[in-house]
Amino acid sequence: MGMLKQPLALGGMEVKNRLLRSATMESMADLDGGVTDALLETYLDLARGGVGLIISGACAVAEDGRAWPNQMGAWDDDHVAGLARLAAMVHVHGQGCKGAVQLHHKPAGATGYSYGGIVEEKSLADLGEDDIARLAGAYGQAAARVKQAGWDAVAVHGGHGYLVSEFFSPATNPRDDQWGGGIEGRLRFPLAVQGAITEAVGPDFPVLWKINTSDFLEDGAGLEDYAALAGRLAGAGVSLIEMSGGIKDQIRLRAKLRREAGEAEAYFLPALEAFRAQAPDTPLALTGGLRSPAAMEAALAAGADMLGLSRPLISEPDLSHRLLATQDKRPARCTSCNKCLLHIASQPLKCVEFDPLQEVIKALN
Ligand SMILES: Cc1cc2nc3c(=O)[nH]c(=O)nc-3n(C[C@H](O)[C@H](O)[C@H](O)COP(=O)(O)O)c2cc1C
Ligand code: SF4
Repeated sequence: MGMLKQPLALGGMEVKNRLLRSATMESMADLDGGVTDALLETYLDLARGGVGLIISGACAVAEDGRAWPNQMGAWDDDHVAGLARLAAMVHVHGQGCKGAVQLHHKPAGATGYSYGGIVEEKSLADLGEDDIARLAGAYGQAAARVKQAGWDAVAVHGGHGYLVSEFFSPATNPRDDQWGGGIEGRLRFPLAVQGAITEAVGPDFPVLWKINTSDFLEDGAGLEDYAALAGRLAGAGVSLIEMSGGIKDQIRLRAKLRREAGEAEAYFLPALEAFRAQAPDTPLALTGGLRSPAAMEAALAAGADMLGLSRPLISEPDLSHRLLATQDKRPARCTSCNKCLLHIASQPLKCVEFDPLQEVIKALN
């Protein structure tokens, strides 16, 4: 277990190993976006499970920007106390785990991309200058609350078709003014979000971004555009760029990418070189498909700085500890069935495939 155990500095934040919990919507907040006991327990399990960095599930920067009813929020000062309790779980004594809250806003023109995509009547083209300034500002205000609550960093959901990604992709941005069109116009909103955050938290507080490597759509942005975005974010001082991909029909797309990746497991590894060329000095994380320690070490050896895990940690929150600190090096048990993804549309996150409650019910019947 060579490189996986090595610490890494992301800006001024020291992460104890190379595994991060990629943002995973828990659908466990109360209906006001507040932190619940279920969230506290989930984060305590993750922190005790040995992962170096926890990135929270998508946390709404605006009340009307929520994509799930039980999504966490940071749009109001009233959220700070709950976020502080959650940060305390991440920082549970003796673990040295670090945490970031992922800031998120649903897209203006669609909802439910992960489940197939429902196009709304409103579109990005309907936003006025005031709306755009208010939205970018909301990311900054939410970031300030995250910092105030004692988190180590803030993260931005810049992928998967949500608001930031909606602005960047030509497939979802129909605007022909300064906020759309060519790459400079489409870059404007992501950079405005980064600018608003830096202004709110200062230049020394780490800001982590998750972006696509491709939209995997004929009329979408591809690797060249996303590598350029990575370069511009690096220039703006971000501390980590997490590489992901896709906008619509994520379930089918990921199954296809998984088949294509084969033993390498990491779907987005082929995009690493282009990102590195544009962001030579910024840590890069690969997220998507990683299940076995051999593939994880190979991805690090190929130049990734960190590795993101989502579904494997839903099923085994202590996976990092198992792989890094015990002799049990079996791959994650997660089968990538995506039942958990369908589940969070209306119920709290859990591994549906290996649900202990179902085992008990089966045994009773
Ligand atoms: C149940 C579920 C919820 C997710 N929620 C988020 C989220 O809130 N923010 C985000 O950036 N990605 C989210 N994702 C995507 C994951 O972070 C990750 O990019 C993807 O699942 C691929 O990684 P994996 O193969 O390790 O699961 C979610 C995925 C799942 C399965
Ligand atoms: S429900 Fe399926 S995809 Fe989700 S964590 Fe469990 S095994 Fe993995």
